[in-house]
Amino acid sequence: MKILVTGGLGYIGSHTVVKLIENKDEVVIVDNLFNSKLVVLDRIESITGVRPTFYQNDVQDAEKLDAIFAKERPEAVIHFAGYKAVGESVAKPLMYYQNNLESTFVLLRCMEKYHCNNIVFSSSATVYGLPDSVPVTEESPVKSATSPYGETKVMIERILSDVAAVHPEMNVALLRYFNPIGAHKSGLLGEDPNGIPNNLLPYINRVACGLLDHLNVFGNDYPTPDGTGVRDYIHVVDLAQGHLLALKKLQSNPGLVIYNLGTGKGTSVLEVIQAYEKATGVKIPYEIKERRPGDVPENYASTDKARRELGFKCQYNVEDACLDGYNFQKAELERNK
Ligand code: WQD
Repeated sequence: MKILVTGGLGYIGSHTVVKLIENKDEVVIVDNLFNSKLVVLDRIESITGVRPTFYQNDVQDAEKLDAIFAKERPEAVIHFAGYKAVGESVAKPLMYYQNNLESTFVLLRCMEKYHCNNIVFSSSATVYGLPDSVPVTEESPVKSATSPYGETKVMIERILSDVAAVHPEMNVALLRYFNPIGAHKSGLLGEDPNGIPNNLLPYINRVACGLLDHLNVFGNDYPTPDGTGVRDYIHVVDLAQGHLLALKKLQSNPGLVIYNLGTGKGTSVLEVIQAYEKATGVKIPYEIKERRPGDVPENYASTDKARRELGFKCQYNVEDACLDGYNFQKAELERNK
């Protein structure tokens, strides 16, 4: 199949593109490089031997996207493009609503015009807000999210659901990611955010490589086994595989389908530190600090539905992801010397 991947040079997008190419799919990437680097295209080629078609464009640019659809005629879309920093979205709500929603509107109009009827959307566990109970299932209530970023995911899920309801020819997969971590085993692809990382693993990677002094653990007085926050950390390569399986599912014309993509296991911050030290042999110094506003005590997935309907099963665990992330960070530092 020919698949158009928006945001395909980003962290999850690039790992998914590798999986698609390995599956012999033809990939067209549209990415404006706002939160990614052009060198990732070379690295995808190094890993797979195939250089995907690439358009450096903003998905909001209706004229450019129309021309891309007219030329490429994709059969399916995976939509990753969007701003995703939770804290930044609180400070700049209009920027997040404008970008994430407008790009989706432009994309859907092109899909309608060119009869591209399959879309996989990169959603997030954040749509569950503060879950009533864990593990979280796809039937757990979608709540008003704890940030404008999360709210855009809730809104886009609703937009896609409403569009699918009046277009029986459309197939939509909403994939709710929990906490993606790790990197490609080649050390060529991974997460290397600009500035000081907000997320746990990129921060630990920098502590492990001596770029940051220690980790601040945001709160150890949560109602969890060791008092620190519990999340469902899924290896990004497993997450990428989930996208391939979701695309395959859409070929059976299921209409709208929703899946949690996680491991089904909760891991606390202290357990992540222990796993990281065990996997890498590197000590991670940390200090306990105040809770971070907006954090929930626990959030991890029930993955029964994805396993049952997609045959989705994680191949990697948290330790694998810690080692892969550490190796990527080290390799990136070497390359940037
Ligand atoms: C995980 C745990 C922190 C950093 C976010 C988004 C979510 C998704 C994944 C996009 C929490 C603790 C963290 C640190 C810490 N992104 N922590 N010290 O907040 O679960 O999810 O990223 O879809 O939408 O909300 O991930 O990695 O920031 O935090 O103690 O320096 O690590 O308190 O318990 P989070 P995270």
